Amino acid sequence: MPNSTIPVITIDGPTASGKGTVAHKVADRLGFHLLDSGALYRLSALSALRRGIDLGDEHALAKVAEHLPVRFNGGHIYLGTEEVSNAIRAEEVGNTASRIAALPAVRHALFGLQLSFRETPGLVADGRDMGTVIFPGARLKVFLTASVEARAQRRYKQLIDKGFSASMDDLLADLQSRDARDTGRAVAPLAPAEDAHLLDTSGMTAEEAVEQVLAWYAHR
Ligand code: DC
Repeated sequence: MPNSTIPVITIDGPTASGKGTVAHKVADRLGFHLLDSGALYRLSALSALRRGIDLGDEHALAKVAEHLPVRFNGGHIYLGTEEVSNAIRAEEVGNTASRIAALPAVRHALFGLQLSFRETPGLVADGRDMGTVIFPGARLKVFLTASVEARAQRRYKQLIDKGFSASMDDLLADLQSRDARDTGRAVAPLAPAEDAHLLDTSGMTAEEAVEQVLAWYAHR
C-alpha cells in the first residue's frame, strides 16, 4: 500500500486536553499505530537539559532533535537504553519542550521522524500540528479542547499518580503560559485545521470522547 493511502486520524489540542488518553484508546480499538508527537519534543528537551545545551542555541537543539536515539516499545519510551517514560512528563521538561518547539529548526528536524510512523494498517497521531502541518491529508481530524480548570485538574492527577509533587496554582499558571506560547508562536501554532471536528471534553469521560471519535471515523 503506498504510504499516502494509509489512513491517519489526527488528534490535536492544548496541554492536558485528554488527547493522549483518547489517541491511545482510539489506536487500541482500531489496531492502529500511535504517534505521540509531544513525546518527541519532550525527549529533545530532556536530552538538551541533560547535556546542558543553551536553550537559545537553535542549531545545537535541532541537532539533538535530529539525532534522538529514541525507541517506543509497547507504551514504554527509551532514550538510548534508558527508560524515560516518566522522566519526560516532569513539568520542567514539558515547559522546555514548549520553548524549543517554537524553533523552526527543531520542528524541521522532527518532521521526517513523525512521517515514518505512518504504517499499515493505520496511524493515530496526537499533538498540536498533526492535522495542519504533518498529516494535512488525514482521513479524520479532531481538535480537543477543555477548560483550563478541567485541564489543570487532569494534569494534577497525572502528576500525583506518577509520584511527582504538584500545586494547582502553579499548574494553572503553567498551563496558561504554555497555551499562550503554543498558540502564539509563528511556526505551526496550535490551531484546529479548517476541516477538523471540534470536541470539548470538559464534562466528558475519556470513554465518551473515544466513542465520539470512533463514530466520526465510521461516518467520515
Ligand atoms: O503534548 P505534550 O504536552 O506532551 O507536548 C509538549 C510540548 O511539545 C508542547 O508544549 C508543545 C510541543 N508540541 C508541539 O509543538 N507540536 C506537537 N505536535 C506536539 C507537541
